[in-house]
Amino acid sequence: MDVLGCRAFRKAIASIGGFDLAFQEFIRISSTSHVASLAKKHDPNELLPHRLTVQLMGSDPEIMARMCQTLVKNGAQHIDLNCGCPSKRVNGRGAGAFLLKEPEHLHRVAKAMVQSVDVPISVKIRSGYDDISLFRENLLAAETAGVSFLTLHPRTKKEGYSPPARWELIREAKEILSIPVVGSGDLFSATDAHAMLNETGCDALMIARGAVINPWIFHEIRGNYEKTWDQMERFFHVFYENIQVTSIKGQLNQLKMIANYLFRGNKTLLGNRERMLREKYQGVESFFQTVLPLLKEGWFGEKSDFAKYG
Ligand SMILES: Cc1cc2nc3c(=O)[nH]c(=O)nc-3n(C[C@H](O)[C@H](O)[C@H](O)COP(=O)(O)O)c2cc1C
Repeated sequence: MDVLGCRAFRKAIASIGGFDLAFQEFIRISSTSHVASLAKKHDPNELLPHRLTVQLMGSDPEIMARMCQTLVKNGAQHIDLNCGCPSKRVNGRGAGAFLLKEPEHLHRVAKAMVQSVDVPISVKIRSGYDDISLFRENLLAAETAGVSFLTLHPRTKKEGYSPPARWELIREAKEILSIPVVGSGDLFSATDAHAMLNETGCDALMIARGAVINPWIFHEIRGNYEKTWDQMERFFHVFYENIQVTSIKGQLNQLKMIANYLFRGNKTLLGNRERMLREKYQGVESFFQTVLPLLKEGWFGEKSDFAKYG
């Protein structure tokens, strides 16, 4: 699993905060899945006081409904259906973005989930699979299934992460749907975030890569917030304390991965990125002693251009 999808990273980001709702990386459900043991992958209280949503990726309505019931029994207060991730065909029907090829089936899966529990169910979609010919159908398939909101990353599955996200499709979704629409795609600064809100009229924003490079982005969007070095130090320590691997080598690798993302945040840090990655650290302490001063210089030093980042 990518380090970004792990509990340690969620905890670290939450130590800075500024967001309303976090999404846990999807849990994949096939028709042979053992629901009770898979449900244990979600701890609804993990990020308290922040809310944490569990996201499911699957295509079998009956098992998705059973999974929802088990999760709710375990305390889940909101569940999201993933219709965005590339996925292989499993058990005859693909899940994730594959559902966008068949709006009727997307509707069946979402409806089975909605009807199985009393907590809100939402849906996360891309603009299509190969193209956007079923865009409208997919939006309506989700809404008429009774979902409480829809998040749109306006690129097709085929487009992956390029070209730029088509924000105009978020505006279109707002025109087509009555439920709230959450916009996602290419939000790397407070300026981007405000532009998306203005251009699309969306009700809320989902931020992925931008938060990894700059964990303060949520506060910056809201304004009136001062970054402090204490928080950045705490971010790393919270991450380290929650790492699941026990070997020093494994821990160092994960710390480097997180630092690698942060070092992309401004030019000063970018210049030190290779050095940070190549350095032979004796242990975690030596990592902190080397890397934290570089981060401090990059973000808070005289040459810091972090302020311009937003
Ligand atoms: C490493 C990574 C993991 C992701 N995992 C998920 C996921 O589990 N579920 C999901 O709906 N979207 C996932 N996404 C997609 C994001 O939620 C988002 O829609 C997309 O990255 C575009 O937003 P961004 O430009 O802010 O990154 C992931 C993105 C990245 C980069």
